[in-house]
Amino acid sequence: MSTVRRIGVLTGGGDAPGLNAVIRAVVRSCRIAHGVSVIGISDGFIGLVEMKARELALADVSGLLVRGGTMLGTSNRGNPFRYAFRRPDGVEELVDASAMVKKNFEKLGLDALVVIGGDGSLSIAERFWRELGIPVVGVPKTIDNDLFATEYTFGFATARETATWALDRLHSTAESHHRVMLLEVMGRDSGWIALHAGLAGGGDVVLIPEIPFTFEALIAKFRARERRGRPFSVVVVAEGAAPVGGNQVFAGEDAVTGWKRLGGISYQIAREIEARGGYEIRATVLGHIQRGGTPVPTDRILATRFGVEAARLAVAGEFGRMVALHNDEIVSVPICEAIGRVKRVDPSCQLVQAARSVGIVFGDEDIDAVDLSEG
Ligand code: F6P
Repeated sequence: MSTVRRIGVLTGGGDAPGLNAVIRAVVRSCRIAHGVSVIGISDGFIGLVEMKARELALADVSGLLVRGGTMLGTSNRGNPFRYAFRRPDGVEELVDASAMVKKNFEKLGLDALVVIGGDGSLSIAERFWRELGIPVVGVPKTIDNDLFATEYTFGFATARETATWALDRLHSTAESHHRVMLLEVMGRDSGWIALHAGLAGGGDVVLIPEIPFTFEALIAKFRARERRGRPFSVVVVAEGAAPVGGNQVFAGEDAVTGWKRLGGISYQIAREIEARGGYEIRATVLGHIQRGGTPVPTDRILATRFGVEAARLAVAGEFGRMVALHNDEIVSVPICEAIGRVKRVDPSCQLVQAARSVGIVFGDEDIDAVDLSEG
């Protein structure tokens, strides 16, 4: 018989479509299947430090499945081990607020904590378990799909759908104007969104962080298409992509945490290609549109399955673990197996091979080979 009566749930880091579906599944399965109550913690770990929490009844999660974002709020600035406290003089300083988390966890009468987050939030959850003895269960979330130890994270399928939608629209305008159109998508240091969207949307070039590119290969591809009577091209660029010997491009840096935000490589590529090749070129940075909106059914289903299993693990007292997808089965793994490393695209994987087979260029090709291709 489980001694777990009250479970806390929070969402940390950047939002992703499907977060609400996980919260709903945790609340519904806790109450319906296990007779356990759920406390929703607001704004990620900030809610645990500053005691922002409330009980979630079934009515609170009604209609949540289709809603993007997170009803609990989230933040990527609330690491309790390096917490930004504002001093009376207005200056923010980083302090260790983890003892406060432990105290508040007890004050709330919680027996377990479900943390829904990406690498950063799950790393914090793992420290809660290992260093503070707070019983945690992790749920992997990120549109980037770059978390280790799970085949997919929820949020990715919706981001992929949005990126493909954008690519479809860029195609028709690229063709009308005989232009080269660049679409920059998210993904941080992995190219999953770019690769999948490029395949689904018939991109001509896909640039991902795992495969450094040369401008020569890109231009050779555009020329090959011209020779075939296709004087336009569509390029999908992952925000973390970089040319051979070049650097990633950052859009900004968080003043307190020092975290650097990627963005803007497509503008750099546009300038370079325009200068070299005399092309008319336009770049679109898709940005946070990929994170918003209603989750696609694939994400709703995965999020629901993750939430149900997270509740079960918490009630069963199987702590320090993260739910994961392996061969389409929901399993659990130690959180430490998932964090601190990035699941990247293997340049020799089947998806990349299939893409190359249908003529997609990644920018690492031998220029003569590109010239000879059917384009
Ligand atoms: O990790 C998810 C993600 O959307 C990345 O793809 C992107 O680089 C980053 O978050 C953007 O973060 P922010 O919400 O801080 O702009």
